[in-house]
Amino acid sequence: MARRKKLYEGKAKILYEGPEPGTLVQYFKDDATAFNAEKRATIEGKGVLNNRLSEFFMTGLGNIGVPTHFIKRLNMREQLIRQVEIIPLEVIVRNFAAGSMAKRLGLEEGTPLPRPIIEFSYKDDALGDPLVPEEYIIAFGWASQQDLDDIVALALRVNDFMAGVMFAVGIKLVDFKIEIGRVWDNDYMRLILADEISPDSCRLWDIETGQKLDKDVFRRDLGSLTDAYTEVARRLGVLPTNV
Ligand code: C5P
Repeated sequence: MARRKKLYEGKAKILYEGPEPGTLVQYFKDDATAFNAEKRATIEGKGVLNNRLSEFFMTGLGNIGVPTHFIKRLNMREQLIRQVEIIPLEVIVRNFAAGSMAKRLGLEEGTPLPRPIIEFSYKDDALGDPLVPEEYIIAFGWASQQDLDDIVALALRVNDFMAGVMFAVGIKLVDFKIEIGRVWDNDYMRLILADEISPDSCRLWDIETGQKLDKDVFRRDLGSLTDAYTEVARRLGVLPTNV
């Protein structure tokens, strides 16, 4: 097979030119990084699990009418996606205090929040993805006020869907991160869900035991990350057969 043109390589994924204009191939690597890539490891099977899990979540979201970049899974590690112009923001939705929010506000991890709270970080590895207020986003032109209103609405729909799906298999959705892209259909700009949704970008706790089933297992050296992600995939009925 002819080698494809690599367009971008990130910490956990590679993007290749797709077979049709306006498409890309997203390849899921086994690499795990944390603390802005200060901590790194290769976790065998992680890419295969995240490819399946992201397919599962994106397909479900598509089925309830949330627009996503996902077209189809191609093989164990790759999926065909729509090419988008990524908005340089990490959109974080939180249902319970954890991670950086718990630290910043001195809250105990797991404290329920009065309502889902959405925050934005500016996507810039060199700066460590700093938290930014909406004022910055609009002033620097990363997104308009209308875009932000649409992004918040989309993020809340993703939250409702994800929280329900996870609750049904005994998992609490503590928080997660999504990325949003712009696409143009006949001069009409739309915002769609892009990147991935996987245990790399969510906090998932077992409802009964509180056991962590997400990337905190790697960040905090809590055991096998593959076992944690496999458990999430098993409960959702999307366990890849050869992992
Ligand atoms: O670290 P923090 O508490 O801000 O993370 C909130 C959520 O966003 C977590 O689920 C984390 O995995 C996710 N996140 C991410 N990529 C980042 C920063 C956070 O997926 N660069």
